[in-house]
Amino acid sequence: MKVLVVGSGGREHAIVNSVAKSSRVSKIYCAPGNAGIAGLAECVDIGVMDFDALTDFAVKEKIDLTIVAPDDPLVAGAVDAFEAKGIRAFGPRANAAILEGSKAFSKDLMKKYGIPTAQYENFDNAEDALKYLETARMPIVLKADGLALGKGVLICNTLEEAREGVKSIMLDKQFGAAGNRMVIEEFMTGREVSVLSFTDGKTIRPMTSAQDHKRAKDGDQGLNTGGMGTFSPSPFYTKEIDEFCMKNIYQPTVDAMAAEGRTFKGVIFFGLMLTEDGPKVLEYNARFGDPEAQVVLPRMNNDIIDVMEACIDGTLDKIELDFKDNAAVCVVLASDGYPVKYEKGYEIKGLDKFDGKDSYFAFHAGTKLKDGKVVTNGGRVLGITAMGPDLKQARSNAYEATKWVDFDNKYCRSDIGRAIDEA
Ligand code: AMP
Ligand code: GLY
Repeated sequence: MKVLVVGSGGREHAIVNSVAKSSRVSKIYCAPGNAGIAGLAECVDIGVMDFDALTDFAVKEKIDLTIVAPDDPLVAGAVDAFEAKGIRAFGPRANAAILEGSKAFSKDLMKKYGIPTAQYENFDNAEDALKYLETARMPIVLKADGLALGKGVLICNTLEEAREGVKSIMLDKQFGAAGNRMVIEEFMTGREVSVLSFTDGKTIRPMTSAQDHKRAKDGDQGLNTGGMGTFSPSPFYTKEIDEFCMKNIYQPTVDAMAAEGRTFKGVIFFGLMLTEDGPKVLEYNARFGDPEAQVVLPRMNNDIIDVMEACIDGTLDKIELDFKDNAAVCVVLASDGYPVKYEKGYEIKGLDKFDGKDSYFAFHAGTKLKDGKVVTNGGRVLGITAMGPDLKQARSNAYEATKWVDFDNKYCRSDIGRAIDEA
């Protein structure tokens, strides 16, 4: 069959890598893709939001399955657009992707269906939000309602900071229209875990757990980024926690969406906080995480096409997910200065060292081909993933492999997976 993957980052490279392993797939296209993806798929120069061009392409090439990976097109209705032209597509429709697209929606859903999450209030004007702050306990968390490249969350320690935060979100529109509404919620403490899951709208199958590192610098200092590294599984995500979450969070979320007439088919990413009072939902995403996919998918033994088709067809109850009994660590190699100001266009050397190795991967995030050479083309450049029998070995393998490649202004955190030592 012919598969089209929509997206261009490290997550999409990991997805394409899994699709390429399926014996059922004869041809892969990726729009727009990147230099690494180009080794496995034919890249087509169409942007992820250009639904007319994407769907025309899928019809013309008789694509059997399209996989929409990023949040923006999912929330804007890419899956609906493909389906309207008779193309099978993996991912939630717009009416279900709202689970990620509106934090106010997701908070109200959790409240209505008793799914554990932080206490909160939604606001659609700054005046009410500012008044609410007067009696609120600090620290407090402010969230722009809509998509904001993962940056729309402010943790405020003082009333003054919180007031400034409300003004910047709702009045100065720091995150654009995402800040037309906002959520103000209780600050929680605990360990964070990400659990990605497949669902067909009735059955939900969690994949293995993972943990992200969002800050740019060692010791979780510096600005928030798209993610500087991940490891999987999380040693803190026990069987008891998994059972609690299945009963109180995962299945109730899928059932709640169905009950609301918003049947969710695709990947739900649960951002969880393991608090003293038990696991609570920090956020939902309607897609694979980036760079969570880069540590979760290499560990999956299933044929990804079988699983995705079961999600579309409503037959996921027939499938058991199967993960390797090992561990994986992904260290992101970025351009120094990311996420603020960085240079692009430097040649990347040493990528051939990954050829033919099945437990090491250089997933391309921001790269492109220029005059036959692979050059840097973004803040996050590569996700270096390595597997190992356990987390410590996987981590030392991943850091060893970061040395195989070189480019000007190469930067990475040196403490990805430091929580492993606390387990
Ligand atoms: P989100 O995009 O909602 O996952 O928020 C981004 C990050 O902000 C999370 O990964 C947490 O580290 C932090 N965060 C979000 N909500 C809360 C909360 N209620 N309490 C403490 N930290 C939070
Ligand atoms: N790594 C977090 C995300 O994909 O949103």
